[in-house]
Amino acid sequence: MTIATHGPFETTDAVQTRTVLHVGCGAPDPAKLPAAFFPAGAWAEMRLDIDPDVQPDIIASITEMPMVPNGAVDAVWSSHNLEHLASHEVPIALAEFFRVLAPGGFVLVTMPDLQQVAALIAEGRLEEAAYLSAMGPIAPLDMLYGYRPALAAGNAFMGHRTGFVAATLQAHLERAGFQGVRVQRDGHFALWGSGVKAV
Ligand SMILES: C[S@@+](CC[C@H](N)C(=O)[O-])C[C@H]1O[C@@H](n2cnc3c(N)ncnc32)[C@H](O)[C@@H]1O
Repeated sequence: MTIATHGPFETTDAVQTRTVLHVGCGAPDPAKLPAAFFPAGAWAEMRLDIDPDVQPDIIASITEMPMVPNGAVDAVWSSHNLEHLASHEVPIALAEFFRVLAPGGFVLVTMPDLQQVAALIAEGRLEEAAYLSAMGPIAPLDMLYGYRPALAAGNAFMGHRTGFVAATLQAHLERAGFQGVRVQRDGHFALWGSGVKAV
């Protein structure tokens, strides 16, 4: 796709590159793009979030992205974002991801692995730090319901309303129409899922 220099999805004569729609992007930080989007110069990042405070390129919910045309992007990257929806909204968001992808494009998602989170909870370790994130320590309680300091600061967008284990994420991605779906448990409290929109 051609790089958009005047605004989202306007075309120019600039360098050909690929576009990743980074949904639920949070605060700007190019380091948030995982290795799938290296080298940086090969990908143009389009940031989308429901929260205007994180200054996204596009302010929208992932359940409704009409400003992103059909087939406009080469990848959709969603990190710790789908669990912020109500369960019945997950297929709606995945249908939006599928719609905006060009044929041959791919989706990459990550979120808490509730199966691993549940193992700690079963040991009674609900509020013990499980790992250290860039924001601070993360406990099972944060992975279940949302990062408590952000919720305490009044950011309702940070609440979690649903969750996933490997099998349910696999089923969601397949039902949305993605091919070659792969889901992995990373052993560090995260699930990673990917799939391709067939050409
Ligand atoms: C835990 S943060 C993750 C930020 C970033 N993706 C990361 O991994 O560092 C969740 C983000 O999802 C956004 N969000 C929550 N509900 C959303 C929705 N319905 N549509 C788009 N973004 C949403 C929040 O505003 C927040 O920026």
